[in-house]
Amino acid sequence: LPAGAQTVMVTADRMLDVQAGRYLEKPALLVRDGRIVEVGTQGQLAAPADTEIVNLAGLTILPGLIDMHVHLTGRHDMHGFRRLEQSPVDEAINGVVHAERTLKAGFTTARNVGAGGYADVALKKAIDQGRVPGPRLWVSGPSIGATGGHCDNNLLPPRFQAKGDGVADGPWGVTQKVRENHKYGATLVKVCATGGVMSKGTAVGAQQLSDEELRAIVEEAKRLGLRTAAHAHGVNGVKAAIRAGFDTIEHASFIDDEGLRLAKERGTWLSMDIYNTEYILGEGEKAGILPESLEKERLTGRIQRENFGRAVKAGVNIVFGSDAGIYPHGENAKQFSRMVKFGMTPLQAIQAATVNAAKALGAEEEVGALAVGRYADILAVKGDPLADISVLERAEAVVKGGVRVK
Ligand code: ARG
Repeated sequence: LPAGAQTVMVTADRMLDVQAGRYLEKPALLVRDGRIVEVGTQGQLAAPADTEIVNLAGLTILPGLIDMHVHLTGRHDMHGFRRLEQSPVDEAINGVVHAERTLKAGFTTARNVGAGGYADVALKKAIDQGRVPGPRLWVSGPSIGATGGHCDNNLLPPRFQAKGDGVADGPWGVTQKVRENHKYGATLVKVCATGGVMSKGTAVGAQQLSDEELRAIVEEAKRLGLRTAAHAHGVNGVKAAIRAGFDTIEHASFIDDEGLRLAKERGTWLSMDIYNTEYILGEGEKAGILPESLEKERLTGRIQRENFGRAVKAGVNIVFGSDAGIYPHGENAKQFSRMVKFGMTPLQAIQAATVNAAKALGAEEEVGALAVGRYADILAVKGDPLADISVLERAEAVVKGGVRVK
């Protein structure tokens, strides 16, 4: 799906200006080479000769959504020991299937935070070349983490020598992993700073990379110009990752007042996957999720939702991150209604998945708003998302770089 080389005009009934928080009636967007060159209204904005019209009459348009935490190469129906059946080649094929689903759900940009065998890098390349449909991607390659930690493979006994691709120990060990991922095409650094729900034998509360290791990772990432994401549930790991300078904290489940204050001071973004828990506790067992993970989830999910509300109240930076891959790809938008239920206004929830996510990515010139200079990445829905956020779960049309893809 090559970016439209010609001039395109996109029209709709109304457009949500996510920065100003208001609607523009009868919008017309002029798009050249995939980017917005003018924003106006129908009648006022003239279409030059040979302009292709993308007519979204009857619909409300908003910027294409950004999910800051997905695993496109992972399957929601293969958890626990079933994950051992998947090779990086399987993962690459999964990625092709899931990228299209994600795009057609209105997510025109995504951050893929952890994949084996650089399947995510291959997927990004194929999407960028227009060979397969999918969101614009930021990709981490294998997540970096300690031996036996959340990013390791702890499912088999020692004689199988199973090991996560991104496992390393010590400041130099993890630094080398950052360099290696960069060498093979990663555009982002993802680490596991604490234990996790889904991994075998890890405690969500336990910090798994030392302060020194976390600092070494951030320093190397900065030298290479990469942004950093830290998986962290437990409060010590959350705070250590914020102090080390990570750009985003994934999950942040047990963050405390000091953590909220630190995040606010440093401008750290929290990416809290608060829909996830419903799928894990509802469907997880069928999908192979380990009993110990279900046990960990019961506490983690509940506290994370409470802390999401506290983070919103405290005015901490929050982005939309779903962890789709644990639950079915394409259902990412289900999280919006939970973000509203647990403390955000609909506009705040939409900003978390548009303008604010673009800031956290360092891509404010590219995505996250329907404004001059940015890509014409558009989601069109029926109804009024500011009155009923769940309309975002039904994408009526999707445009990426001025090309209608749904
Ligand atoms: N990938 C995360 C982990 O295993 C998922 C956590 C899901 N639970 C939650 N309440 N957000 O740790």
